[in-house]
Amino acid sequence: MNNCIIVTGGAGFIGSNFVNAWVKGGLGQVVNLDKLTYAGNLANLAAIEHNPQHIFVHGDIADSAKMDDLLKQHQPCAIVNFAAESHVDRSIHAPGEFIQTNIVGTFNLLESARAYWNDLGDEYKDKFRFLHVSTDEVYGTLTATEPAFTETHAYQPNSPYSASKAASDHLVRAYYHTYKFPVLTTNCSNNYGPYHFPEKLIPLVIHNALAGKPLPIYGNGQQIRDWLYVEDHCSAIRRVLEAGTVGEVYNIGGWNEKANLDVVHTLCDILDKEKPKQSGSYRDQITFVTDRPGHDARYAIDASKIERELGWKPAETFETGILKTVKWYLAHQAWVQNVTSGEYKNWVNTNYQERGEELA
Ligand code: NAD
Ligand code: TYD
Repeated sequence: MNNCIIVTGGAGFIGSNFVNAWVKGGLGQVVNLDKLTYAGNLANLAAIEHNPQHIFVHGDIADSAKMDDLLKQHQPCAIVNFAAESHVDRSIHAPGEFIQTNIVGTFNLLESARAYWNDLGDEYKDKFRFLHVSTDEVYGTLTATEPAFTETHAYQPNSPYSASKAASDHLVRAYYHTYKFPVLTTNCSNNYGPYHFPEKLIPLVIHNALAGKPLPIYGNGQQIRDWLYVEDHCSAIRRVLEAGTVGEVYNIGGWNEKANLDVVHTLCDILDKEKPKQSGSYRDQITFVTDRPGHDARYAIDASKIERELGWKPAETFETGILKTVKWYLAHQAWVQNVTSGEYKNWVNTNYQERGEELA
């Protein structure tokens, strides 16, 4: 077994932040396997393109033959599984890919990883880890007064996305209980930061604001999400990988519950300062549109277990993280232009026309 790790989905939003930080931090070699769906983008990895500590492999986690070969070739000490279909609205329009990647893909990956692990010597078997990156959305929705999700909260997923992630979490759990396969699971709240694909609320609002387009708020905008800066999520994953107890689940969150409308107001106010319009405020572009079917009212993560047991806390507040994020998007408009050409326009048509808005 080598010191290298295999990361899946490392060309996406969180995965690319994780891989960049790992390689730039000199933490060892990363073999980065990604299918390069619409959400995967090699431009996210441009800074480490020629770094010998980063090996990119184009492939699908569901491709067992490819995974078996990759594991044999590189002999990793860990796999960190980010690969997934991740957007709730897309899962409502077309759930099939979510079942294929998030459930079948995770199952195939677990089987390849278990076969590789079975053949390791005892010392290496003890050291190997399979870290599965999951979401708080598996726990369902909270009322305004219910306590935040702990690791023992019942699974009550409400969208095809969260149901498919819940299924993958159950498979990971079962592999530990049945085979003693050394898994770790993390359930994190909503992330934001650099390289976030502009189908999600925060980058979509920044992009539309600058383009003079409507800022679409689903329903009344009072739904609550618990926001975490992406680099804090990555540091939490590194900490769990290093010190987490095998078989355990760790919730990761930023203690930053915000209503969607408040998030959009904050973004408009920052943009008004950083890139003022000729007249008026970006807030004038806010438009209320038809709500998401089955829209979860509130997510909130109780992140006290990871703090108590592993000493992890987020470094950013919402205020510092969101300012960094807006500045990053302003400084990386070429990246935004690149990812919003082509297929992106079809998605925007599909999602917003039926909500009564023309955004493309
Ligand atoms: P993303 O959609 O930006 O990226 C997903 C990546 O996985 C893309 O690069 C894509 O090409 C790749 N991929 C998709 N199917 C694949 C397959 N079959 N084989 C290999 N690669 C494949 O997603 P993200 O926001 O970076 O999320 C990463 C992980 O974190 C997901 O598992 C998601 O459920 C979880 N998560 C996300 C958030 C969030 O706020 N974005 C919060 C908590 C947990
Ligand atoms: P999103 O970024 O899609 O993440 P998730 O659904 O995984 O939480 O959405 C965050 C919140 O913002 C969610 O409550 C839906 C809402 N939203 C809007 O109001 N308008 C939009 O155009 C989008 C994409 C999301």
